[in-house]
Amino acid sequence: MTAPIFVALDTTDLAKAEAWAKAVAPHLAGVKVGLEFFYALGTSGAQRVAAHTPLFLDLKLHDIPNTVAGGLRAVLSHLQPRYTNVHAGGGPAMVAAAAEAVATASPATRLLAVTVLTSLDDNDLAAVGQQGPAAEQVLRLARMAEANGAHGVVCSPTEVAMLRQEMGRDFDLVVPGIRPTGADTQDQKRVMTPADALTAGATALVIGRPITGASDPAEAARAIAASL
Ligand code: C5P
Repeated sequence: MTAPIFVALDTTDLAKAEAWAKAVAPHLAGVKVGLEFFYALGTSGAQRVAAHTPLFLDLKLHDIPNTVAGGLRAVLSHLQPRYTNVHAGGGPAMVAAAAEAVATASPATRLLAVTVLTSLDDNDLAAVGQQGPAAEQVLRLARMAEANGAHGVVCSPTEVAMLRQEMGRDFDLVVPGIRPTGADTQDQKRVMTPADALTAGATALVIGRPITGASDPAEAARAIAASL
């Protein structure tokens, strides 16, 4: 059985991304491609890595409902990822339009909403006119996203236990900011180990550099899976 972990392929180099996808596929649930990969390599690049292992298409869309729905229908006519996402801050109608587009174009895809970016603190929230504390805003947006058809949220490790308790068992909590014991934290500030995040209630984890930056990514993926 593979571990519920998606590896962040943060690169514009398709050969490198494909090599990482092949290396981790036997051990982990899939790979995540985000803005850096997708703007450089597009749907054809994403199809290439998705040929090796399931895909999390991390688009973080945020626009008027009609435009977000049209964008999703366009991309989902080429790809059927396990997960894709929008910003919850786009509002109820935008999340509902995204959910409808996903249900029609790729029914097996789970739609996630990004609540509060982990790069924002309470002062940053105030600067954009949002009411903190961040954890309360995360819960408010998670409830709104669920009510409008999202299947889950992307959240930080520090919010997992609270969201699992408040949102019930069927709501997906997909969690970045994960570091194996002893790993370099890099620019991630509030980190948790894979085992702790899953025990707290995460559905799936996103891990990048501890695997893609390792001298042997396949071995790093195997060791993380074995630690669970
Ligand atoms: O290399 P690292 O494990 O830090 O990569 C984490 C991945 O998760 C990156 O692709 C990053 O963009 C993404 N991410 C994050 N924090 C969020 C949302 C996404 O680190 N709040």
